[in-house]
Amino acid sequence: MDSKQAAHLLATLLDTYRGSELSSDREFFMRLAFHFRDIARLSYSLYGGRSHLEEWTRRLVDLLYTQYRARPRRAREVDRVRERNPKWYLSNQLVSTMLYVDRFAGNLAGLRRRIGHFRDLGVNLVHLMPLLDCPAGANDGGYAVRDYRAVDPRIGSMDELVALIEAFHDDGILVQLDLVVNHTSDQHQWAQRAAAGDQRYQDYYYMYEDRSIPDQFEASMPEVFPQSAPGNFTWLPEVERWVMTVFHEYQWDLNYTNPDVFLEMLDVMLYLSNCGADVLRLDAVPYLWKKIGTTGQNLDEAHTILRLFRVCASIVAPAVALMAEAVVQPAEIVRYFGTDDYAGRECEMAYHVSLMVLLWDCIATRSTRLLRRGLESMPEIPRNATWFTYIRCHDDIGLGYADQDIRACGLDPFLHRRFIVDYFTGRYPGSTATGSPFMVNLRTGDARISGSAASLLGLESAIERGDRHGIETAIDCLIMLYAIVCSIGGIPIIYYGDEVGYLNDYSYLDEPDKREDNRWMHRPRIDWNKMARSQDCVTVEGRVFARMKQLIARRKELPEFAADFPAQMMDPANEHVVAYLRYCADYRTLVLANVSDVTQIVSFDVLEESGIDPSAADVLSGRPAQIEGEYVVLRPYAFLWLRHSVFGESAPSQTTQAVTTQTREHTR
Ligand code: GLC
Repeated sequence: MDSKQAAHLLATLLDTYRGSELSSDREFFMRLAFHFRDIARLSYSLYGGRSHLEEWTRRLVDLLYTQYRARPRRAREVDRVRERNPKWYLSNQLVSTMLYVDRFAGNLAGLRRRIGHFRDLGVNLVHLMPLLDCPAGANDGGYAVRDYRAVDPRIGSMDELVALIEAFHDDGILVQLDLVVNHTSDQHQWAQRAAAGDQRYQDYYYMYEDRSIPDQFEASMPEVFPQSAPGNFTWLPEVERWVMTVFHEYQWDLNYTNPDVFLEMLDVMLYLSNCGADVLRLDAVPYLWKKIGTTGQNLDEAHTILRLFRVCASIVAPAVALMAEAVVQPAEIVRYFGTDDYAGRECEMAYHVSLMVLLWDCIATRSTRLLRRGLESMPEIPRNATWFTYIRCHDDIGLGYADQDIRACGLDPFLHRRFIVDYFTGRYPGSTATGSPFMVNLRTGDARISGSAASLLGLESAIERGDRHGIETAIDCLIMLYAIVCSIGGIPIIYYGDEVGYLNDYSYLDEPDKREDNRWMHRPRIDWNKMARSQDCVTVEGRVFARMKQLIARRKELPEFAADFPAQMMDPANEHVVAYLRYCADYRTLVLANVSDVTQIVSFDVLEESGIDPSAADVLSGRPAQIEGEYVVLRPYAFLWLRHSVFGESAPSQTTQAVTTQTREHTR
C-alpha cells in the first residue's frame, strides 16, 4: 500500500468519527495520523492477500480508540512525560528484578508488604512473572494463560494488581508484566471452543485433521522440550485434530496468519498496558509465525507482527516499552530491535542472552576469549534500544554461542558445550558447581543447565563442606558477575534470591506438577527468615546483600553507565581479565574484572589507552587500585570500576537528590 492509498484509507476511517470525538480526543487522532502509514504498510505486508483488509483496518482503529478511551488518566500523563523523553529506559537509574509473586511473597497482598525490600536494595523496576489465570497443576510457571483479563485467583484479583502497580509507582518503582503472545493454555476459552468443534476458534490455532501437514512442519522444526514434550503437535481425540504445541502439549500455538488473532492479542496487550504496566515482556517472540520448510523461528513475519504491535502501542500507550524474549542466536536476537526502516522501532528491549551465556563460559574456562569474540562479533544495536543484562533468570542456561565464535577460539563447538554442561553439573573434575542438566536431547547431544547462580558458582558445595574460603570465593565471584551486569550497559536484572545468594531449592521435587522440570530448582520459595539475615553482615545473606546494594547505588551515580553509548571492549593483554570502557561527556570508567580464581595483573597500557590515570579511584572502594610496578593487581574474582573525570577529579558522585528526581520522572 503506498502513502496515497494509506492517506485515502485514513480519511475514510476518520469520516466515521464525530467532530466532537476528533476534538476531545485530538491527542489520539494526531498519533493515529502520525503512525497510520506504518499501520497500513505493516498490515498490508502481513494480510495483504485478504479481501477484507479495509474492514479489518477499521476494526483495528476502533479497537485502538476504545482502548485509548479506557486508558486511565494517570497512565496518559506518563505517556506524555515519556513522549517528551522517549529514551527514558536507557537511564543508568534503572535496576530491575524479576520474581514469581507466589514464590516470593505468597500473593499480591504479601508482595505489597515487601515493597520496602526493593526500596532497600535499590531496585526500581519489578518484573512480576506470569500472574494471570492459568490452570492448576502443570502450567509452565504460568506461561499457559487461561484468561488474559483475570489474575490467578490464588494470588489475588485484577483490582489488587492495579492497586499494587499504583503503590509501586508511588514509590518510584516501575512494573513489568508478561504478555504470553505466542500461545494460550488449552483451557483458554478459545481453545475450549475449538476443542468443542467451533470452526471460528479452530482457526485461532494450527489445527489439522491428519498428519500430512504436521509431518511437513516437523521435518524442519526443532524441539523446545525434547525430554518432556517431544514433537510439535498434539492429538486431540475430542475433535480428532492435531494442534500445534511447540512448547508443552497444553500450550497451543496461536495462528497469526489469521488476522483476527492479531486483533485479539492486540486488545490483550493494550488491556495490560492500561492496567499500568511500564514494560511488557513479549514471551517467545521468535515463534510467532510458522511456515513449512523452516524452523518456525525468527521469520520476517514475526518481526512484522511485533512492529505492528509497537506502532499500535505508540498510539494508545506510548509510555509502555516492549521487551523481546528471544532466546536465539546472537545475530538473530538483535533483529528484534528492528532493522532497516524499522531499526529501533520493533522492541526497544531484549534479554542479553549472549552476554549471559558468555559470562558463564568465562566462569567455567577462567578465560574471556569466547566472551570477547562473542561480544565483538555481535552486530551493533540501534541507539534507542537496550539490553536487559543478567546472569540468571527463571529459565535454563542454553548454550547458544555462535559455533563460528567457538571455532575461532580454537575449540570444537560440540565438545566445548559438553564441557560447559559437565562443569556446571559438577561432573568435571575440580568443579564445585551444583547444577543439573536440563532437556538433554539424546539425538543431538544438546543439553542446557539449571541451577541458581550461587549454587552454580560453588556456594552450595562450599557451605556443605564447611569451606570458609570456598564460601568467600563463591560470593566474590557472584558479586564480580553482577558488577559486570550492572556496568556493561543496559538494565541489570537482579534475579530474585540472588540478592542474598539463594541456593538451589529442591522442594520442587515434592510437587508432582513441577518434579519433571528442574528449572524449578532456581525458582526458590523465599523464606523471609533467611531474607531477614540480609540485614546482618556476619551472615552470607548479609554480606551478599550489602555488596549488591552498593553496586546498585553506585551504578545509579554514574551517568556513563547509561545505555546511550555502548561499552568499548579493551584489550587488557590478559585472557583472564575482562576490560571495557564506559563513557559520557564528563566521565569515563574503566571496568576490569578477573574471571579466574588466581590473582592476575594488568599492565598500565590498558589504563593509558582508556585515558585513565593509574591513581584513579575505584568507585566502589573509593581507593586507588593495588599497583605492583607498572601493573594493576586483581585478586581472584576481583573487579574495579576505575573512574576518571574529564575535569580532573576522581570518582565524584551525583547527589542522591538528583538520582531520586530522575527516578520519579520515569514513573510520573
Ligand atoms: C519463555 C519462558 C519459558 C516458557 C516458554 C513458553 O521462553 O521464559 O519459561 O517455558 O516461554 O512459554
